[in-house]
Amino acid sequence: MSILITGGAGYIGSHTSVELLNAGYDIVIVDNFSNSKPEVLNRIKELTGKGFKFYEVDVLDKDALSQVFSENHIEAVIHFAGLKSVGESVAMPINYYYNNITGNLILAEVMAKHNVKKIVFSSSATVYGMNNISPLTEDLPLSTTNPYGSTKLMGEQIFQDIYVSDNEWSIALLRYFNPIGAHESGRIGEDPKGIPNNIMPYITQVAVGKREKLNVFGDDYDTHDGTGVRDYIHVVDLAKGHLKAVEKIMGTKGVKIYNLGTGIGYSVLDLVKNFEEATGVKVPYVITKRRPGDIAACFSDPTKALKELNWKTEKTLKDMCKDSWKWQSNNPKGY
Ligand SMILES: NC(=O)c1ccc[n+]([C@@H]2O[C@H](COP(=O)([O-])OP(=O)(O)OC[C@H]3O[C@@H](n4cnc5c(N)ncnc54)[C@H](O)[C@@H]3O)[C@@H](O)[C@H]2O)c1
Repeated sequence: MSILITGGAGYIGSHTSVELLNAGYDIVIVDNFSNSKPEVLNRIKELTGKGFKFYEVDVLDKDALSQVFSENHIEAVIHFAGLKSVGESVAMPINYYYNNITGNLILAEVMAKHNVKKIVFSSSATVYGMNNISPLTEDLPLSTTNPYGSTKLMGEQIFQDIYVSDNEWSIALLRYFNPIGAHESGRIGEDPKGIPNNIMPYITQVAVGKREKLNVFGDDYDTHDGTGVRDYIHVVDLAKGHLKAVEKIMGTKGVKIYNLGTGIGYSVLDLVKNFEEATGVKVPYVITKRRPGDIAACFSDPTKALKELNWKTEKTLKDMCKDSWKWQSNNPKGY
């Protein structure tokens, strides 16, 4: 019995693969390397001392995906494969809807055909939109402000509707807050192509000298220092949340929705300060104007995940900074 991990060569998928292998699961990874590199697979093997099957398959390729299910005894799927940049999604909505939405549909169709009805889906805190006040609980009204967010909201809806049509499904929708950090070994981490969209790779690239300075988008928000507040979560804590979610869907049916966050909001300047303290490296920054679509504060209420999954984060903001830096400084050019 194996867990199929779509997008397992990516940032969160690779860390989750390591945790699953270390916990004794057999895994099969599918990835098309649209946003990752094959070297990550060697690193996963190196870190765990375990082998696994890998298929260079696009989730949109129904026949190839179906072949993966025919060749393996898949018990459940963790579905990370998707495009994830908000800005890019505004510029290329067709690509985003096509890849993320069609990917969900094809995967669900192939799963149903092979009678595999357990799935963990990567959703995002972006589904809480602009109008809710943090801390955010799972039952709040949802909305989105960009095509990427819409693909996540629609993805949640698709899986909920699938359950309504067939109560044999067991589905976990995980709303991630802001994953940063890397495996403490420094062997795997986030390896963005081109200019990073997320703040931590940007900070580490400034720190390593690859970029001149960090742009801080706005210092006039209603927060303790005026800069935006987010719920940063260590990627290894996040990966461990997937283990708990897999255990949950193995034993129950229905749709479960969980926030995966720390419950603590830190500002951009808190992050810079913690990074400098944790690493001893200065991060020059400049305050620029607000970025359209950004909100002042977004952080989770993670109580439900604690109660129902017995999961909570363990790592501190300093751990996140230290591990991100170890990854970046040991791998200045990524994989
Ligand atoms: N990183 C974040 O800040 C964040 C936050 C919330 C939600 N998420 C979601 O979590 C998931 C994983 O995110 P990540 O940060 O690891 O991203 P990532 O880009 O590092 O990983 C995604 C992986 O999926 C692969 N992929 C994309 N489309 C594919 C397709 N059609 N077929 C096969 N493989 C495909 C990519 O090559 C990549 O390896 C995504 O669905 C993302 O939207 C990420």
